[in-house]
Amino acid sequence: MAAKNYEASVLFKLNYASAANVVINQGGTSSGKTYAIEQVLFCLACQKDKQVITVVGQDIPNLKAGALRDALTIYNTSSQLKKLVKNFNKTDRIFEFYNGSIKE
Ligand SMILES: Nc1ncnc2c1ncn2[C@@H]1O[C@H](COP(=O)(O)OP(=O)(O)OP(=O)(O)O)[C@@H](O)[C@H]1O
Ligand SMILES: [Mg+2]
Repeated sequence: MAAKNYEASVLFKLNYASAANVVINQGGTSSGKTYAIEQVLFCLACQKDKQVITVVGQDIPNLKAGALRDALTIYNTSSQLKKLVKNFNKTDRIFEFYNGSIKE
């Protein structure tokens, strides 16, 4: 996904390149963990058909102010992503991709 306006930190690269089953990100508040992980999950959803990706958190308000907000920022600022996402279902908070993948 090399294109202008696409900003990935070292956190993105390390998470994306990992071959481990479990990857733990530790770091201070607002250090970019959630944002980088969201970017990786968008890539995984796009690059392979029919993936089901579930993002969980302690509760919905927490997700709305954190992971979901970051996901929507990434989505809204990426013209490439907009071409690959068929729909964002606001009620169920699910991104539906043309390739059959979903990210909920
Ligand atoms: N690669 C990036 N490009 C643009 N903005 C970024 C990037 N990474 C982080 N940010 C900005 O920094 C904010 C904080 O990052 P993030 O929420 O990922 O931190 P965090 O490490 O998950 O913090 P916490 O431990 O509090 O959950 C994001 O909401 C976003 O606005
Ligand atoms: Mg976070």
